[in-house]
Amino acid sequence: MAKLAIDGGTPVRTRPFPPRRPFGDREVELVTQAIRSQNLFGPSGTMVPELERRFAALYGVGYAVASTSGTSAIHVALGGLNPDPGDEVIAAPITDAGTIVPILYQNCIPVFADIDDTYNMDPADVEAKITPRTRAIIVVHLFGNPCDMDAMTAVARRHGVALVEDCCQAHLTEYKGRLCGSIGDIGCFSLQQSKHMTAGDGGLTVTRDAALAERMGLFRDKGWERKPGARGYVQLGLNYRMTELQGAVALAQLEKVADVVRRRNELGDLLTERIRQAPGIIPCPVTEGGRHTYWSYGLRVVEGEPARFAAALRAEGIPAGFGYIGKPIYLCMAALARKATFGSSSHPLDGCHGGRIPDYREGMCPRTEQILGQMLTLSIHEHMEHEDIEDMAAGINKVAEALEPAAGE
Ligand SMILES: Cc1ncc(COP(=O)(O)O)c(C=O)c1O
Repeated sequence: MAKLAIDGGTPVRTRPFPPRRPFGDREVELVTQAIRSQNLFGPSGTMVPELERRFAALYGVGYAVASTSGTSAIHVALGGLNPDPGDEVIAAPITDAGTIVPILYQNCIPVFADIDDTYNMDPADVEAKITPRTRAIIVVHLFGNPCDMDAMTAVARRHGVALVEDCCQAHLTEYKGRLCGSIGDIGCFSLQQSKHMTAGDGGLTVTRDAALAERMGLFRDKGWERKPGARGYVQLGLNYRMTELQGAVALAQLEKVADVVRRRNELGDLLTERIRQAPGIIPCPVTEGGRHTYWSYGLRVVEGEPARFAAALRAEGIPAGFGYIGKPIYLCMAALARKATFGSSSHPLDGCHGGRIPDYREGMCPRTEQILGQMLTLSIHEHMEHEDIEDMAAGINKVAEALEPAAGE
């Protein structure tokens, strides 16, 4: 058996992996056009409205509302739904804080459902967490792997709650031939630098519902109806407007995103194929009927020490992270774990408006805690070649075989 690089052996890979280079001449051309127009203000521009039109068309929905980030895209969704203070929103425990922050800012209570082997929320646990105060479910298609949307849609319908899809890591991700983001009531996307399509930062919220789209548009623009004459701020809202600069870059990215996603899907599936036989690990899961878009490749080390596995992989020249966000979001956000929210209060987690006082603590979502402790993440992107994936696989296979606990151990 080959000696591991971490023990002084020869690494599988000594060359660095190719960098991702998302921007090119088309972005320069459209940004230049935006600047030459002498107007960078989205509402009176051309780039942002065109982006909204084309993004909505791509997803086959009637409406898209552009904003400044994925976090704002989710806030815009909740602003459109307009829950009562103290209402509950069920969300995934493995996610970015950007899924949760808008819930708190809308004076609502995040409730967490545990995950299953897909790393996404288990629909049965989502249903078990529904109460008379539940207003919405935010599913997160983690890493680009779709949730079981048949089951999620059924749960949401049965209980009359809104279904919001957090697609921040899941651009053009397919579930049974449909695009994630267009299956629930609202879909939310991030254009942050690492995402399949990016403008550095930015967000988009999509829906088929005209009334919802109107409220979401107002929420993004201070509630301003922008009609001629005296101003009418007809709804409470924030300024989450996207600029023409972001719109220009995002429009150029929209032309490429299908190729980006196709390539990532091919490379990620290839890696799974190559490591399928490796002992002690479970390759990145793909939900039945789903097409994974590999924003990240998450595998599990189920035998031995996952942290040591990651360190050994890095020594082989294969960058790998251990544990993704580390702890579930209810433990790693102070706003939840310590209820450190507004001033000296713990609002809205303080029983306001007849709402519940949640208890975010270790053990709340046991599967989530177990799986995070086993998880390794690898970066796969569209500018990698097959040989890069072959090297990743060689590293994983080498480490898995070397670290495999001996029989009877
Ligand atoms: C699943 C998920 N939700 C929400 C967000 C928030 O997006 P942004 O960083 O654009 O605000 C992110 C971003 O990392 C994310 O990965």
